[in-house]
Amino acid sequence: MHLLTIILLLLLLRPAEPFRRRGPRSGAAERGTGGRVRGRGRAGLMRRQTQECNEYVEAGEKYLDCQDRQLTTVMQDWPKDIHHLLLARNKIQVLRDNMFSQFTRLKSLDLQQNDISMVEVGAFTGLTQLTTLLLQHNGLKTASEEVLLPLPRLTYLRVYDNPWSCHCSLESLVTMLQLPSHRNLGNYAKCAEPQSLRGQKLKKLNVELLCAGDNQVIGRPEGPDRGQPRPPTIKLKPEATSMCHTYMFPKPLLNCSSKDLNNIPSDLPSDIVKMDLSRNNIKHLRPKHFLLSKDLKLLNLSSNSLQSIDTAAFAGLLYLRELDLSNNSLHYFQYGVLEDLYFLRKLSLENNPWICDYNIHYLIYWLKHHPGVLYTGLTCSAPQEFRGWRVEDYVKTYNGECPKDRHTEEVDTGQGGQRGTDNEAQEVMGETAEGPGDHLPQHLKEKTPNKFEIIRLS
Ligand SMILES: *[C@@H]1O[C@H](CO)[C@@H](O)[C@H](O)[C@H]1NC(C)=O
Ligand SMILES: *[C@@H]1O[C@H](CO)[C@@H](O)[C@H](O)[C@H]1NC(C)=O
Ligand SMILES: *[C@@H]1O[C@H](CO)[C@@H](O)[C@H](O)[C@H]1NC(C)=O
Repeated sequence: MHLLTIILLLLLLRPAEPFRRRGPRSGAAERGTGGRVRGRGRAGLMRRQTQECNEYVEAGEKYLDCQDRQLTTVMQDWPKDIHHLLLARNKIQVLRDNMFSQFTRLKSLDLQQNDISMVEVGAFTGLTQLTTLLLQHNGLKTASEEVLLPLPRLTYLRVYDNPWSCHCSLESLVTMLQLPSHRNLGNYAKCAEPQSLRGQKLKKLNVELLCAGDNQVIGRPEGPDRGQPRPPTIKLKPEATSMCHTYMFPKPLLNCSSKDLNNIPSDLPSDIVKMDLSRNNIKHLRPKHFLLSKDLKLLNLSSNSLQSIDTAAFAGLLYLRELDLSNNSLHYFQYGVLEDLYFLRKLSLENNPWICDYNIHYLIYWLKHHPGVLYTGLTCSAPQEFRGWRVEDYVKTYNGECPKDRHTEEVDTGQGGQRGTDNEAQEVMGETAEGPGDHLPQHLKEKTPNKFEIIRLS
């Protein structure tokens, strides 16, 4: 009886086999996987399979095998519900922030034998289920513990055969690897430099030696490095106090302008009132960078390469009065981004490629509800038909004949600060819900405002 069932199943499944797409170099990549795919879901899975990679199910878990494919990054169209992502032997050089965050179910990530020399701090954001991370045989010289913080379940970490540069910047990672509970994290990894530590295992290293040798490199903001070789790689997360100038008079100012920063520095002093981060190369603002900068009144992010701002990026900036985002690459604001800015007065937005489609509506709603905010530079750059229009005018035409704008004019300054954001959010939601076009997608309307974070703060 059982045998019969099995034979029947095999017969049924066989016709599906030819549909199994294979990547260009699938011969090597499929070693050991061929023929193991069995199960009902397969035909469906195969259909949404990407061209390059091979997706299969084994023991109820989904694998995406993209090994040996000359890849330099992950692709947006890969299935998001996979448990295991195999990327060994590709050409990845940098692990970017949020690179894997769409794969929320991921349990293992195999990145061995690439050319990875840099891991951005948010590279593993969102991988809360990840237990196994393989980074051996790459070009990593340094990394901080912070990189691993988004991985609460990590139990296996392989980082051997990387040219670890055992200097102060590695301290937090080494300390973390040496915790007794981290038995399977970082085994066999060794220092490649400096000469004095060469060959020593990270697991066994005397952490104090790491920072002993290179105080000058780390501690001094001013002056050249006196020939001290900075770790030539990765400024993983540059530290504000070493990279930037701080002034206490006339007002506490942190000036990180023109420092070639790719990220917001890590140890922002908490008592700073003005922060100049202009003229750097920051692309994304991740949540809660400024959480401790509670006194900040002016934040200058102009002339960076900002493309996206996470929803809670401005969390904690309760007293921010002026925000300069001019000369960046912003297309729109994500829903909720501005909710933390109770006291904002001035918002500079010029020189960004604002796209006039429904994504821009949140910004306009927020501005309507905060008439005390003086803003500049909100001009559509795309699509062609609205190019050069004021964004408000575009939104008006979008809303068309329905004169519901009057509703917002009753709202007071909106800058009272003590008015809860929840009220405002409800107004926004009420407005969008009653709108003729229902132009905000469903998930935006149902979104709970950020108020909890704010309350916890204060
Ligand atoms: C920060 O320093 C730059 C020079 O590096 C200077 O041009 C700029 O005005 C300074 N910013 C502030 C707010 O003082
Ligand atoms: C921000 O910095 C840019 C360039 O460094 C400067 O031109 C601009 O005036 C600053 N914005 C504010 C609000 O201080
Ligand atoms: C805008 O930013 C670019 C670099 O991102 C810089 O070269 C240019 O001078 C900036 N323009 C203004 C007006 O500040």
